[in-house]
Amino acid sequence: TQTIFSGIQPSGTLTIGNYLGAMKQFPELQDEYNSYFCIVDYHAITVPQDRLKLRDQTRSLAAMYLASGINPEKSTLFIQSEVPAHAELAWMLQCVATVGELERMTQYKDKSEGKESVTAGLLTYPPLMAADILLYGTDIVPVGDDQKQHIELTRNIAERFNKRYNDIFTIPDIKIQKVGARIMSLQNPTKKMSKSDENHKATIFLLDEPKQIEKKIKSAVTDSEGIIEFDKENKPGISNLLNIYAGFTEKSVDEIVKDYAGKGYGDFKSDLAQIVSEKISKIQERYYELYESEELDEILDQGQEKAELAASKMLKKAKKAMGIGRVH
Ligand code: AQP
Repeated sequence: TQTIFSGIQPSGTLTIGNYLGAMKQFPELQDEYNSYFCIVDYHAITVPQDRLKLRDQTRSLAAMYLASGINPEKSTLFIQSEVPAHAELAWMLQCVATVGELERMTQYKDKSEGKESVTAGLLTYPPLMAADILLYGTDIVPVGDDQKQHIELTRNIAERFNKRYNDIFTIPDIKIQKVGARIMSLQNPTKKMSKSDENHKATIFLLDEPKQIEKKIKSAVTDSEGIIEFDKENKPGISNLLNIYAGFTEKSVDEIVKDYAGKGYGDFKSDLAQIVSEKISKIQERYYELYESEELDEILDQGQEKAELAASKMLKKAKKAMGIGRVH
């Protein structure tokens, strides 16, 4: 069987973007693949985090993975910082990656834009992500469209390492959803929806109440034409809402457009609010049970053990290939 790895940062409450772009596909994948799902807390500290909030968000994210259908009997669910091999291999891969290629990453450019000073970790985010993926001999990485460039870089770093030192790393492929790969901000539909967006009206969080969801969808930016059509260029707002609708139902965008022929944005928006609320309230129910439970800690302990076992083997190989430490 092939292996998949995917990580999410505990940098805030998850959004429907994180869900539709990544998490939603995990439960099906775990039946088919040897699966690792990770809470990447070391990635989250590349930007400032409040320590108590970070702790809480880490636990919250673990509960959210499980509530959305991750089964710990089938998958390994763990916290990145609890498996030190990630940080160790990340350092080694920082010595394979170049500053030039890291500076070309659009996520780095976006997140550093206009800032007087950013952490070195924000720049070296991708080698840590490469370490996450390469430690498990990952074949496939299911992520949203925004991670394409980082996966491409992971492949380059792995190939360079294999050529320069020893052929130990599997070169991973990306897997992107057909629908929902890039959900946009409700207030600025040319920008992607993000957990850390300061404008909360722009984002639907997986823990939002139906009332909030309705309010946010009703005030989502559209256009004055009033015709429900998919046209990303000229009608990015309504196109984004159509994508969200398709992501939460079994319907295609074309079918939805047909269903709403002759209807206005008002009707469409109220239906969408209801669909989103219904779907996520099911996840929320399970989430709140898990969040407080001891079961959650047991699952994370088990996950740590399983991940550690696999990761330490690969780390040993990488150290041997690079000549790090003594031979034993
Ligand atoms: N808007 C999005 N549409 C579809 N997929 C998305 N993802 C993120 N935003 C969207 C996917 O969610 C997974 C987890 O992302 P992450 O936590 O590793 O970091 P990110 O991509 O930087 O996500 P955010 O929400 O924008 O977080 P912040 O604000 O902290 O940077 C990934 O698979 C990602 O592709």
